[in-house]
Amino acid sequence: MKQSVKLVAGNWKMNGLGASLTEVEVLRAALESEPAACRVALCPPATLIERMARAAAGSPIGVGGQDCRAETHGAFTGDVSAAMLRDAGATLVILGHSERRQGHGETDLLVSAKAEAALGAGLEPIVCVGETLQQREAGQAVDVVRSQIMASLPLVLAGRDFAVAYEPVWAIGTGLTPTLEQIEEVHRAVRAAMIERLGPGIAATPILYGGSVKPDNAAEILAVPEVGGALVGGASLRGADFLGIIRGA
Ligand code: PGA
Repeated sequence: MKQSVKLVAGNWKMNGLGASLTEVEVLRAALESEPAACRVALCPPATLIERMARAAAGSPIGVGGQDCRAETHGAFTGDVSAAMLRDAGATLVILGHSERRQGHGETDLLVSAKAEAALGAGLEPIVCVGETLQQREAGQAVDVVRSQIMASLPLVLAGRDFAVAYEPVWAIGTGLTPTLEQIEEVHRAVRAAMIERLGPGIAATPILYGGSVKPDNAAEILAVPEVGGALVGGASLRGADFLGIIRGA
């Protein structure tokens, strides 16, 4: 496993047309004149993966999908397999994002099957976990995240390149973030659960924080012990903002 360097990944969600690729050019030029201290990736909608991969070719910017189907092929109208993402030029894929868990009824079991499929296609999965506000207020954040880790990470991840993203649902797109102490507490619990599930070999696998990461809070969040990078939504849409976060790593 190559990992221990931080990973800053952008999730464009359902945003971006061909014209948005100018943001990749902005980012690419900046990273070529001053290399990043972290790994960098962007996950555009599926329609842009191939074009973004071409725009990023030869640069340090990796391209990822936002979801994939667990099956390799078949009668699944509208879905995309891991091999299709890979074929389009992706090297990573976000899985189990809360917008998929909540909006599409994705369970831990399904996320685990998707992670296995992603590995099988040569993609690096970024598996997302995180508690709702109600769960946080009920004092259940650590327990919820721990049980998501135990059930969403397939055993085949041991020894492979992947990442986990801790994204409190209530912090996504809201401008709210947990305190640095709360982030550290959950990240430590995630690490412990990962080791329990997959063994001590995953000690260097990055655990990203996601949820309202912006250029002005990125450096302090990325400096928290056990924070191995960031998964960034809104602030990844503009190259200049995303660069500000990358520079904080
Ligand atoms: P946000 O989204 O940065 O816009 O809060 C994060 C995410 O959903 O990954």
